[in-house]
Amino acid sequence: MKFKLKENLLLGTATAATQIEGGDENNNWARFAAEGKVDDGTTPVRANDHYNRFREDIDLMADMGLEIYRFGIEWSRVEPRRGEYSEEALAHYREEVEYMLSKGIKPMLTLHHFTNPIWFEDMGAWECAESVEIYLALVSRVMDTLGDLVSDYITINEPNVYATNSLFYGIWPPEKKSMGALIKAFSNMTAAHIRAYSLIHEKRSALGKSREETLVSFANHLRVFEPKNPKNLWHKFAARLSEYLFQGAITKAMMTGKCLFPVLRRKGVKVGKYYDFIGINYYSRSTCEGISDGVREGSDRNDLGWEIYHEGLIRLSEKLSEKYGREYPVFVTENGTCDNTDSFRPRFIYDQLKLISETDNRIERYYHWSFTDNFEWREGERARFGIVHCDYETQTRTVKSSGKLYSSIIANRGVTDEAYALYVENSEYHK
Ligand code: BGC
Repeated sequence: MKFKLKENLLLGTATAATQIEGGDENNNWARFAAEGKVDDGTTPVRANDHYNRFREDIDLMADMGLEIYRFGIEWSRVEPRRGEYSEEALAHYREEVEYMLSKGIKPMLTLHHFTNPIWFEDMGAWECAESVEIYLALVSRVMDTLGDLVSDYITINEPNVYATNSLFYGIWPPEKKSMGALIKAFSNMTAAHIRAYSLIHEKRSALGKSREETLVSFANHLRVFEPKNPKNLWHKFAARLSEYLFQGAITKAMMTGKCLFPVLRRKGVKVGKYYDFIGINYYSRSTCEGISDGVREGSDRNDLGWEIYHEGLIRLSEKLSEKYGREYPVFVTENGTCDNTDSFRPRFIYDQLKLISETDNRIERYYHWSFTDNFEWREGERARFGIVHCDYETQTRTVKSSGKLYSSIIANRGVTDEAYALYVENSEYHK
């Protein structure tokens, strides 16, 4: 055995509805794609056709031995027009959850993952004061349909990535570049999370579930920020400031209700604890010499140029456990890499799980991003993150070497010498 998996660590994958389902034209990303703004000209209207093929995909997950699955609902299917809910879409998600459960896979449901229905986008989305009530009504309706079956929830995926890309850098719809818009979105999303946290617990308890049977948090995109030159005061300041603006303030606000600039306190937000686990989405490190994302010279990189830095996840997990309480488990709600040919993903999985298994850190779940290759937002279909390959033309799924390694790790509770020789030995990073 090369290493044994940490005891109690559950393994699975994560996806998001818009990135895999296909078929929905009623969301802001489908419109953005139709306007020709996705780099490779593809659209989430194709994606993996998962909406129709969810049984096939879940069967494959079960065959691979995956234990947990983080997935999302497509808001624009569930509420195609403001206040009008689609019974058909809700029944579809219920069927999907029932199918997962019948295969022994534990679901974690994401209620918002970047995408907005067009009607919501056009009224100002998360910048608009009404967004909180609108989102809570959605959560309430979804809980009425799925609340008895699903015990684990992510209210919002990566509010910081959503708000910075959509409203500050202007590279995602609606392509705004406004600090004011960013502040409004941060503040409203914080209120939405905090109130949804309480609402989900209330709904579950009305169904006779105990508090411990329900786990709610958000998926927090965290990076390690470091100065390019540790002796340079400006670089140090830039790293600290970037960290604070991108993740420090929003993390604190969402988890505890303590709102500091750039997050403003909205109605109904009180100081408290709004998490049952610490959810971390981790991908990379930022090397700073200004307020922009730099990549460390000479580092191993993935196919999108992001540094591969596995220690970062452990460092962040330690930091959050220290700050927010070691009594809470850490769930790695996303971690993975863009490797279009699956040449280094096996090593990536090996290195990351080895580090997780060797530390004392209370990481109890690991959701690899992602199950299949899927629609990678602005990059479209050309950036591949899956442990299962997708041929988008024929919709054929093929388990990659990384997927076979992952299955073998689950089955053997670690990496055997044989699995290492088969999948990891010849798998190498590139610069
Ligand atoms: C997002 C995913 C995305 C992944 C890879 C995360 O920030 O939650 O939707 O596909 O990163 O870029």
